[in-house]
Amino acid sequence: MKKIIASNFKTNHSRETTREFMEDLNQYLVQKEIKNDVYVFPSATAFDKFDLSENLIVGAQNCYHTKSGSFTGEIGTIHLDEFGIKTILIGHSERRHILGESQKEVALKYNYFKALGYKIIYCFGEPLEVKQAGLTETLGYIWEQFDGIDLSYENLILAYEPVWAIGTGVSATIEDIATIHRKIKKKIDKPLLYGGSVKVCGLQDILEVPNVDGVLVGTASWAVEDFKKMVYIASKMDGSSKIIQCEKESN
Ligand code: 13P
Repeated sequence: MKKIIASNFKTNHSRETTREFMEDLNQYLVQKEIKNDVYVFPSATAFDKFDLSENLIVGAQNCYHTKSGSFTGEIGTIHLDEFGIKTILIGHSERRHILGESQKEVALKYNYFKALGYKIIYCFGEPLEVKQAGLTETLGYIWEQFDGIDLSYENLILAYEPVWAIGTGVSATIEDIATIHRKIKKKIDKPLLYGGSVKVCGLQDILEVPNVDGVLVGTASWAVEDFKKMVYIASKMDGSSKIIQCEKESN
């Protein structure tokens, strides 16, 4: 399976810079004949009618479980339909821990978008104190984040994003990633991404970990030149071709 590369813009990029990013990235995929699935999750205000390759997919970072209605500050599926968006992130750590979405709410949202056939990238991961309590506690915490989630759903991609690694600049170690991904894959046969301070230079090592099917990147993906490097590295891991060596760089 080709590695999946996804960029979560979070609360970054304007409408104008999102368009520039998408056009630049699309041109790059075409030029390099890259066929990996590449996802970008821009801010909802930057949704637009982009002319993109089939394997470059725009998704929503969030959407309320409604078509439309009175939910001040939220968007509904009419706002996604307008741009043909059929992919959504659900369960992201920032929505759980900063915006207070409970597992019940996350599951409700999951089931709503599942019923509509959306591709769901379902995020989960433990906070630092749980990690420090040990592997059993960590796995217990993760399984609870699957409460109410139909893991047999055909359009499901999982993303393991340990809370302590998100936005901290400190990625999980290769050993941590290998352990958690092995445990999850044993039980759930779905594509499984890693996310949490993934950078250009660490990407190759992470993608080589067994049971890592791709990455979900925040900070290090926001500069299009860096994201293109990531996409390129991922594309070169599929065949027997030599993978580019990453030079020392800040990213
Ligand atoms: P960072 O890459 O900034 O750690 O964010 C990861 C993430 O939350 C992607 O969804």
